[in-house]
Amino acid sequence: MQPGHNIESVLYSAGDISERVKELGKLITEAYSGKELILICPLKGSVIFFADLMREIKIPVEIDFMSVSSYNSSTISSGEVKVLKDISTGIAEKHVLIIEDIIDTGLTLKEVRGIIEKRKPASLKICTLLNKPSRRIADIEPDWSGFVIPDKFVVGYGLDYGEKFRNLPYIGVLKTSNT
Ligand code: IMP
Ligand code: MG
Repeated sequence: MQPGHNIESVLYSAGDISERVKELGKLITEAYSGKELILICPLKGSVIFFADLMREIKIPVEIDFMSVSSYNSSTISSGEVKVLKDISTGIAEKHVLIIEDIIDTGLTLKEVRGIIEKRKPASLKICTLLNKPSRRIADIEPDWSGFVIPDKFVVGYGLDYGEKFRNLPYIGVLKTSNT
């Protein structure tokens, strides 16, 4: 698919993403074989990655969703979060994997990790599709990462700008005239 007039360039095509998602699924399947695994999807950006990745994980899993909002809704995260929707699954003594769309400053995920950690899971790990390490502020690193990307604002495959572009099947760089 050609980039639309809002998209400067396609960073990862649907094919690139699906290939990488399969690889991640394999690694996660191996890492958790014989264990009880709960996958947590922080809404909304992660939903597409979450839905694709869970089908590449070939062990039984439970899934749950969580929604947090940062108080600052701009593209710069404030690091304070409010839980809008909590998970309903008991996670004590179970292995938990948070599946994220992107780690940018890491401030949001650090808060989410803190909330989950308090519930004493057997283990807590993070898989992110995209990692922007150059922007990191919080001390947080993914255990699995799909792609390391430069400091560009990207949309598509779940990622939004102003709640738009989530339905693009590829990940593209947004034209700066849009931001
Ligand atoms: P962080 O707290 O700065 O790591 O990022 C929190 C959230 O900001 C992510 O879960 C995304 O929703 C959003 N975000 C960060 N970078 C991008 C981007 O390049 N495109 C779209 N959303 C982004
Ligand atoms: Mg967002």
